[in-house]
Amino acid sequence: MAEGNRTLVAPSILSADFGHLAEEVKRIESGGGDWIHLDIMDGVFVPNITFGPPMVSALRRHSRLPFDTHLMIINPEKYVSKFVDAGADIITIHYEATVHVHRVLSQIREFGKKAGISIVPSTPAAMLTELLPELDLILVMTVNPGFGGQQLIPQTLQKVSQLVEMRHRGEHRYLIEVDGGINGGTCKLAIEAGADVLVAGSAVFESENIEKEINALRCR
Ligand code: DX5
Ligand code: ZN
Repeated sequence: MAEGNRTLVAPSILSADFGHLAEEVKRIESGGGDWIHLDIMDGVFVPNITFGPPMVSALRRHSRLPFDTHLMIINPEKYVSKFVDAGADIITIHYEATVHVHRVLSQIREFGKKAGISIVPSTPAAMLTELLPELDLILVMTVNPGFGGQQLIPQTLQKVSQLVEMRHRGEHRYLIEVDGGINGGTCKLAIEAGADVLVAGSAVFESENIEKEINALRCR
């Protein structure tokens, strides 16, 4: 998944035009996005509802980019196989959404998919200690999940630096992704903290020029 030290950008279609999602996904691809970030919300784990596996499957036909599915749903184990069938490449579950996190991560990997875990702003990075060898990706929420267009909570970036340190110490290989409030003003802070992948919704879709915005987020 990683390409050297290049920062990857994963535009989130949460801020895209839901009436034209196929075109929006193509705009991400032609604009140089690395992954497509798909926010799955169940109205229970977070106070918002988006879409499920049928939408992921429908969009799959319109892009070759890796599908980075962020499951903000309780008991994700019930739906892992459905997202696999729909064409997800990376399946990220929330640490706070199920008791048997380790089992679900193994389930994802048994399907041959990349397994990710996400933590909300109030969950410390240290809670992931026992899981580190099982992880391809750690998604640090830099806002409280549920909505696009919120402001980044600066303290959350300390967890990114801690996870970089934990990766080095344990010789782990996971990528670190940040999600929420990433824009031209905050991307540098996230990259300096050690983020490998930046999710950006409103910054990308509210810009006049997606390609230019994606490049600006990489801070090159
Ligand atoms: C929020 C979602 C994010 C959201 C980010 O719960 O997980 O992926 O799309 O939106 P922005 O980039 O606008 O903060
Ligand atoms: Zn997300």
